[in-house]
Amino acid sequence: MTAILEIEDLRKTYERGFEALKGVTLAARAGEILALLGPNGAGKTTLISTVCGLTVPTGGRARVAGHDILRDYRSARALIGLVPQEIALEPFQKVWDAVRFSRGLFGLPRDDAHLESVLRQLSLWDKRGAQTRELSGGMKRRVMIAKALAHEPRVLFLDEPTAGVDVELRRGMWETVERLKADGVTIILTTHYLEEAEALADRVGVINRGELLLVEETGALMDRMGRKELVIELHEPVAAIPAALAGYDLDLAQDGAALVYCYDRRAERTGITRLLADLQAAGLALRDLSTRQSSLEDIFVGLVQEDAA
Ligand SMILES: Nc1ncnc2c1ncn2[C@@H]1O[C@H](COP(=O)(O)OP(=O)(O)O)[C@@H](O)[C@H]1O
Ligand SMILES: [Mg+2]
Repeated sequence: MTAILEIEDLRKTYERGFEALKGVTLAARAGEILALLGPNGAGKTTLISTVCGLTVPTGGRARVAGHDILRDYRSARALIGLVPQEIALEPFQKVWDAVRFSRGLFGLPRDDAHLESVLRQLSLWDKRGAQTRELSGGMKRRVMIAKALAHEPRVLFLDEPTAGVDVELRRGMWETVERLKADGVTIILTTHYLEEAEALADRVGVINRGELLLVEETGALMDRMGRKELVIELHEPVAAIPAALAGYDLDLAQDGAALVYCYDRRAERTGITRLLADLQAAGLALRDLSTRQSSLEDIFVGLVQEDAA
């Protein structure tokens, strides 16, 4: 794995002793989309602010393409684009001037061709002459992204890019993020929408109360958690799972009054039809059937609750 971002035991204690980051270790691969999922107050913004040099860490290290964010700040920061949680634009500034100014802040030579391609990619080229106050909320957010890309960063941080955004705009933002990834930009985004992490991210990190609880491939996480259960209530309780049904992944529940069958919700064949036929053949009468689905939501809620206990 080629890590473009390496975070090691990063800590942040705010004044009055509040520990917002309790030793976070994390690496992002070049070209991936990594989603940091966590409830409000988890420490997501603090993590991003620390890596981007807006907040001074109280411990640990972070490197961007090998450049230490403290000792080698300018080189590290030049490789980072940051889109903060809150939209902040000069209302009377034109879109074009806003992105040109952002590039200039990094001391880079003018490159109108690059800025044009950034604006085109974000569907803002037609709006280049508009003052930012004339734009819709979705466009303003895209201007924020354009500004963050003006200096050709390799890592882009998007802090809650779709918080408070309607469903349609959210999907538009996902498409934008996927296009940026296709361009080779590494993207680290924070979100508290599970759906967003599932739809976009190559890997998901779950953060809660200043700790990173896990980082895993989104697919593997979904496989692990995306199982579904069929609860089969029986007319008469059984003492054990009948031998004829030994080939199924069945568990006894409710003191033998129910059987629980686990299956992969994404599998083409769940085996349910055959199981029900075999149950009947084994002489078991059914009282009721119900399904339960475990989702990213379940594991997330489970993890966060476990952590609070
Ligand atoms: N400047 C600050 N001073 C003191 N506490 C802060 C400051 N900024 C954030 N916090 C606290 O740190 C915790 C994490 O905040 P934040 O990183 O913004 O979380 P998130 O982005 O995940 O919602 C919160 O409890 C928040 O109140
Ligand atoms: Mg935040």
